[in-house]
Amino acid sequence: KRVVLAYSGGLDTSIILKWLQTTYGCEVVTFTADLGQGEELEPARQKALLLGIKPEHIFIEDLREEFVRDYVFPMFRANAQYEGLYLLGTAIARPLIAKKQIEIARKVGADAVAHGATGKGNDQVRFELAYYALEPDIKVIAPWREWDLTSRTALLNFAEQNQIPIAKDKRGDAPFSVDANLLHVSSEGKVLEDPAQDVPDYVYSRTVNPEDAPDKPTFIEIEFKSGDPVAVDGEALSPAALLTHLNALGRVNGIGRLDLVENRFVGMKSRGMYETPGGTILLAAHRGIEQVTLDRGAAHLKDELMPKYAELIYNGFWFSPEREMLQALIDKSQEFVTGKVRLKLYKGSVGVVGRSSPYSLYDQDLVTFEDGAVAYDHQDAAGFIKLNALRLRTLARRKSKAKAK
Ligand code: ARG
Ligand code: SIN
Repeated sequence: KRVVLAYSGGLDTSIILKWLQTTYGCEVVTFTADLGQGEELEPARQKALLLGIKPEHIFIEDLREEFVRDYVFPMFRANAQYEGLYLLGTAIARPLIAKKQIEIARKVGADAVAHGATGKGNDQVRFELAYYALEPDIKVIAPWREWDLTSRTALLNFAEQNQIPIAKDKRGDAPFSVDANLLHVSSEGKVLEDPAQDVPDYVYSRTVNPEDAPDKPTFIEIEFKSGDPVAVDGEALSPAALLTHLNALGRVNGIGRLDLVENRFVGMKSRGMYETPGGTILLAAHRGIEQVTLDRGAAHLKDELMPKYAELIYNGFWFSPEREMLQALIDKSQEFVTGKVRLKLYKGSVGVVGRSSPYSLYDQDLVTFEDGAVAYDHQDAAGFIKLNALRLRTLARRKSKAKAK
């Protein structure tokens, strides 16, 4: 029996690897993805070899372009934010990892997949819903829900007994849990668990403190084509290169920090800290270009649907008909979302300072306070207001009649 494990090369997934070999007696195939988490992947190969994995059963893939092009950008077309604030950096990466695991399982003839998410969180749901959506009869192993290694000491003992190398700094308890990719880094648990307490400075890794950011603003220009960013300051960039560049600009200007208490799908509240520097800039820019290119009806409809779309991604329903239906609607709306947005980055803030588009619906002749518009007759407004006021006047009359009684 063979199992494809989502393997980071870290201590926890190495323990899982060994545990799968010893408990299930199965052959483990490892999959390690570069999603832009900012870690070397070759050490994961060495570690897997050391733990007895056959060279042909170690899969390492650079997924950065696919991640940004086929997952992050489609999501940003919707301006998706969960509970008003979270840019879904972890949620959007899970379906891609799951899809690759299933592909590898088919390639090597594995009948099972395994992941390192705990039994309390969202990630177990996201991984497993994606597995089942793509391969309905796959067997899923979630070691955190099965084993008795329920304390850090038990885990470290298991590692020692099985000759799993433990980095010196991992001997003590890690002070918080991290998930990172090109879109964001998320920190949860341990020192962050009390939502009344500030996030300690050392938790931040992708942004400078806004107070320490330059005293001079940075101005940039982002170009969009049909809803997706294609260039920054006149330079055409691939999706992953563009997001990497925005991350660098966001980092030095202290942009994209978020301290949030959110509702997990499994029912509990959790407190997390997110850094999404490039994504925060991208959201502002995308909304900026939509301001001039989207019709009101289209814009308001997609804004109404956005929370639903964000919730589907958060809850792990990327591979579902309802997410795909909403995606088709959102993508259709982006046909003319083309043009340039200028932004000001300054001490933790990002704001649009200019937007222009060959397809702009903005009509200066129509809106100007100066006289001279021909397409708009002021007199039309009087009837427009009167008919809209009809109900309100009827209600007001009833109110005064009721009072008089
Ligand atoms: N709460 C976030 C989510 O559900 C992040 C979860 C993973 N983060 C972590 N630090 N382990 O998308
Ligand atoms: C985990 O439980 O593995 C991370 C947090 C989450 O999935 O919500």
